[in-house]
Amino acid sequence: MARRPVVAANWKMHKSLGETRDFLRAFLPMVAGARDREILVAPPFTALALAAELVRGSNVAIAAQNMHPEEKGAFTGEVSPIMLSDLGVRWVIVGHSERRHVFGEGDDFVAAKVRSALDHGLRPILCIGETLEERDAGATLSVLERQLAAALAGIPGPDLAGLVVAYEPVWAIGTGRTATTAQVQEAHRSVREWFAGAFDSSIAGEIRILYGGSVKPGNVDALMALDDVDGVLVGGASLEADSFSRIVNFRPAG
Ligand code: PGA
Repeated sequence: MARRPVVAANWKMHKSLGETRDFLRAFLPMVAGARDREILVAPPFTALALAAELVRGSNVAIAAQNMHPEEKGAFTGEVSPIMLSDLGVRWVIVGHSERRHVFGEGDDFVAAKVRSALDHGLRPILCIGETLEERDAGATLSVLERQLAAALAGIPGPDLAGLVVAYEPVWAIGTGRTATTAQVQEAHRSVREWFAGAFDSSIAGEIRILYGGSVKPGNVDALMALDDVDGVLVGGASLEADSFSRIVNFRPAG
């Protein structure tokens, strides 16, 4: 596969400093041989500085789980792209469904974050995905297109080299209910086709599309064997070093 796989851990609101240290000490040697894939860990903000220090010189990079689009200002409780860069963070998850649905972030705010991340040299992992109601209504592909169009409006094609997309069906996140391989491939193919139409076929061919939603050691190989799956974004199964290292060291079936 020409596209370099990305395997990302989203720890959400889990892990103290001590737990972050214990995880990385165990995990880094387990994945040290995996040089042909990008490995990312997104700890909570409080553990970013420690994690960035612990992974220095390794093949693991640190991502933030969110950011505010502005550089500074009266935004109580928020963290800016400059603050993230300052810590050595190079990636940021944007538009995660928990941000959209639990914290009410809309397409425009997500778009501002994508643009700001790119402007500040951070690589956004743009999350998109339909709810169960939207899937049942047959609206999955139109929801994905709307989210992509809104988030990427006005961004010049060449700037997208820094972008990764994560397709995460909301009904599969944290539920133990993974989308079927046919559902995943259909959604990923349509995302890639959207890029071909909105930009061009070379961008579509290069853009990396991750799947997220109840990824586990037991299903990662089948997911990674799909033509248009270029990686995974993992929540629950990324919290233990054994489990996440097995996911990083996936062996695509077939
Ligand atoms: P999950 O979460 O792996 O626990 O389903 C995925 C995510 O929210 O990114």
